[in-house]
Amino acid sequence: MEPLRSLILAAAGNDVIRRVAATAPGTRQIIARFVPGETVADALRAVKTLAADGRCATLDYLGEYTRDPAQAESTVRTYLRLLDELSKQGLSGHAEVSVKLSALTVDGDRVLAARNLGLVCEAAEQCGTTVTVDMEDHTTTDATLGVVGDARRTWPWVGAVVQSYLRRTEADVAALAYKGSRVRLCKGAYAEPADVAYADAHAVDLSYVRCANRLLEGGAYAMFATHDPRLVGLLRQRTRWYGREQGSYEYQMLYGVRPDEQRRLAAEGETVRVYVPFGEQWYGYLMRRLAERPANLALFLRALAIR
Ligand code: FDA
Repeated sequence: MEPLRSLILAAAGNDVIRRVAATAPGTRQIIARFVPGETVADALRAVKTLAADGRCATLDYLGEYTRDPAQAESTVRTYLRLLDELSKQGLSGHAEVSVKLSALTVDGDRVLAARNLGLVCEAAEQCGTTVTVDMEDHTTTDATLGVVGDARRTWPWVGAVVQSYLRRTEADVAALAYKGSRVRLCKGAYAEPADVAYADAHAVDLSYVRCANRLLEGGAYAMFATHDPRLVGLLRQRTRWYGREQGSYEYQMLYGVRPDEQRRLAAEGETVRVYVPFGEQWYGYLMRRLAERPANLALFLRALAIR
């Protein structure tokens, strides 16, 4: 991994930098580019804006690695309220939710994670939409896939996420590549050691393409989460080669990243889903976005300096 990227990802876990960032007035502008707001109302407004030009959303209530039971409970309540509002406002056809298990549970407690995921899935089912379980750092991969597998026995539509930078992912994809299985394929956003993850960007891309082929071949509902123009071009060829109709797979991009490309794909009839994070706990999410595009780091550092 490049030194600058690892440095930024290390800062994602630094409490001092987090506190400075949270109080610096200039950071608001940068946050607003990637996070449309802190409240459920802000998230719903973003869904309506996206729906106006044919884009769908997956909504993520920000938070991760929770240590406080009250915080985990409050996260679950927010998801239930969000799903209720999606239903009431007739938006469930336009949006699903994304959850991080480390936000739904406390100190990695797997039983609590499964129970709380179940509550969110029940609410999503009533609302007529779906849930995708984000993938976090590699120490959580087995537990996350295990909880998703168990949840799928009751709710087969629960989405799994795989990261092409992990060496293990092709094997995971082989088990997930079956008809109807909803699988988000991304490159991966965490600082991982070389024994578990490819360090070379080209190797990550090649792994991405191999995993995409496997998902398309196996009949999975593939959710291609990438902004990479080369990969998007290639995926468009691969979907045709496998005879996939539009609507039997989708493209996913992050809120605030390549919005013109999102609109272009949607205008061509592709299903495009935008990952919309909202809430107060934006710090870890923002740092991962900066690590992906260090050009944005200069903006962030300038924002910290503005008083
Ligand atoms: P990468 O960052 O390698 O960029 C490749 C090219 O894309 C760039 O050269 C540029 O051309 C273009 N590009 C990228 N960012 C751009 C920008 N800001 N502006 C303009 N062009 C840009 N990760 C994870 O570990 N677990 C998860 O659950 C998820 N979930 C998830 C959902 C969704 C919907 C998305 C889109 C992404 C994730 N991710 C994720 C993050 C993912 O793993 C990855 O870190 C980012 O998507 C960045 O990787 P790219 O594939 O975009 O390519």
